[in-house]
Amino acid sequence: MISNISYMQGVKSLKDIDVSGKRVLIRVDFNVPVDSHNNITDDRRIRMALPTINYCIDHGACSITLVSHFGDPKGGYEEKYSLIHVRKRLERLLQKKVEFIEDFESSQNEIATCSLERVFLLENIRFHEGEKQNDAEFSKKLASICDVYINDAFGTSHRKHASTYGITEFVEIKVAGFLMMREIEAFNKALEHPVHPIALVVGGAKISSKITLLEAVLEKIDKLIIGGAMSNTFLRALGYDMKESLYEEEYIQTARDVLAKAQEHQVKVYLPVDVVITDSIEKSIDIQVVPSQDVLDGFRAVDIGPATVKLFSEAIGLSNTIIWNGPMGIYEIDKFSKGTFKIANAIGDCYAYTIVGGGDTADAVDKASEAENFSFISTGGGASLELLEGKILPGFSNLNRVEK
Ligand code: 3PG
Repeated sequence: MISNISYMQGVKSLKDIDVSGKRVLIRVDFNVPVDSHNNITDDRRIRMALPTINYCIDHGACSITLVSHFGDPKGGYEEKYSLIHVRKRLERLLQKKVEFIEDFESSQNEIATCSLERVFLLENIRFHEGEKQNDAEFSKKLASICDVYINDAFGTSHRKHASTYGITEFVEIKVAGFLMMREIEAFNKALEHPVHPIALVVGGAKISSKITLLEAVLEKIDKLIIGGAMSNTFLRALGYDMKESLYEEEYIQTARDVLAKAQEHQVKVYLPVDVVITDSIEKSIDIQVVPSQDVLDGFRAVDIGPATVKLFSEAIGLSNTIIWNGPMGIYEIDKFSKGTFKIANAIGDCYAYTIVGGGDTADAVDKASEAENFSFISTGGGASLELLEGKILPGFSNLNRVEK
């Protein structure tokens, strides 16, 4: 049986088509990490999309419309989720003027007109209700502004949204961009013939969307190492009182199911044995290291502690394939970044095939100066977990296929 990855490798890529004189729409993932002033802290996702954008410019596409989401706004416009913050960086990297389209529905005609060499960046596509609902009418509207659809948003390719999936119902020429193909190639190396033991290291604050995937990947891995906010839900499931720590009450049962299934499949699970806690993230007057079961009243866990770093590093060091997704704490704040950076160092030091996935985690690896020591830095977090699970990602599933 053909694997999910081989299936996805069979899609047509940009190099298989002619874009000259065509209006091209590229779904990119410009959901980049930013600081509290909306300064981009890691522009990897933008840089990685440049080969596809430049190829279209160099091969005479008559207009290029870039579509992305940014964060996860709950409905309508919100300044902090505007892609306007990304435009300047994009212009600098592209060395080209980028026209920002605030409301694509009212500018539809302008974009739809073939006008050589124009590059448009649409405002956060998730400001439109139809995007996440994968609404057919909305997908059709997006399709109406292009002749060619290129999906290059690997980080969002696990989402069945209008701009990642629905639009493909209404465009005839639909292919994968260079980033998508590069990512699938790297995961092919790691997952088609993996060298055991395989360790999956997960963390980060996107608990609900990742925890449900863990159960499904247990059959593929040997070790599950859990840190960051994700581990708080597991520690809570073990009966620990995590006090003010971030965890998701409604996923405690899911965490229990993951632990039970891990035992069934003889997957070794590693959870923090100690944590760094603070009384306030902003002021951080009181910071302590305590055993995971002893979080103080009014405190919250914000990083893994030194004993956990040692435990996790040993488990990592004895693995031959390591996939890392999600930081071990609030690494953006210096005082709480040690655990994440130490884990980046531990993975970087390994003689193993190492993949790090996701905007924040890749940023952390860069900050720890370990980027060069990883086999591959993926732009996808959740997407890479779904690959590991064995799924065909919606962002690939409806693209044109190479004829045999
Ligand atoms: C990511 O950051 O993982 C991607 O951009 C997808 O974002 P999402 O989880 O909000 O869909």
